[in-house]
Amino acid sequence: MSSCESIQGTLSGLRVVIDAGPTYEDIDPVRFLGNRSSGKMGFAVAEAAVEAGAKVTLIAGPVALATPPGVARRIDVRSARQMREAVMQAVDRADIFIATAAVADWRVAEYSARKIKKSTSCAPVLELVENPDILAEVAARNPRPFVVGFAAETDHVAEHAHEKLVRKNLDMLAANHVDERIGIGADDNALELIWRDGGESLPRAPKSALARKLVARIAARYHARTGKPA
Ligand code: C5P
Repeated sequence: MSSCESIQGTLSGLRVVIDAGPTYEDIDPVRFLGNRSSGKMGFAVAEAAVEAGAKVTLIAGPVALATPPGVARRIDVRSARQMREAVMQAVDRADIFIATAAVADWRVAEYSARKIKKSTSCAPVLELVENPDILAEVAARNPRPFVVGFAAETDHVAEHAHEKLVRKNLDMLAANHVDERIGIGADDNALELIWRDGGESLPRAPKSALARKLVARIAARYHARTGKPA
C-alpha cells in the first residue's frame, strides 16, 4: 500500500487492545526504574486502528501524550503489574492485542515506603525480581486474541525477532533496530514484520505512516486467519 492508501474499515467492528509507553518501577517515594520509551509508536498505532474502524482500548504507561481522537477507552498505569492487570481485564473480549509497551523486565524486590537515605559509607544494593511477561501471558490464553508483539533490538534483529515470535507464540512480531536516532523515543522508526510463514520490511518513516502500514498488515493477516473478508 502507498502511505496515503485507505485503511478505513479494515478493522471495522473489531475490539483492539494496545499497550504503550514505558512502565515505571518504584524504588521508594522519589525514585524509580524506567526506560526511554515515549509511547509515540503505540499511540500512533492506536490512531491508525481507530481510522481502520476498530474499537480501541489504549493502556498507557507514564507518557506525555494526548489520547488520539476516537479511542474508546484509555487506562493510565504506572508499573508493569498495573499494566498486566489492566491488559488482562481488557483482552477478555478483544479480537486483537498489540503489545507496543516497553514493559520493565524487572522491579525491585522490596519497595521502600521511606526515602532511602544516602549513606556516606556504602551504596545500597537493589535486589531485582522479574516482572510478569504480559505479552506471553495473553498469547498463552485459550481462547486468545490475534497477538502482535514488538521487539526493540540493538543487534541481530531478524534472528532475535524470529526466536521471540516462536518462544512467545505470537501471530506477528514487529522488530526494530534501536540506536540513538531511530526507535525508542524518536519520531521515526523502521520495522521488520515477521509471522510464521513470512515477513516484510517496512522502511524508515514517521511513526504515524508506519503505524498505518502496520495496521493494514495486521488487518490482512487477522482476516486471513479468521477466513472473514476484510
Ligand atoms: O522479550 P522482550 O521484552 O524483548 O519482548 C518485547 C515484547 O514483549 C513487547 O511486545 C513487550 O510489550 C512485551 N513484553 C511484555 N511484558 C514484559 C516484557 C515484554 O508484554 N514483561
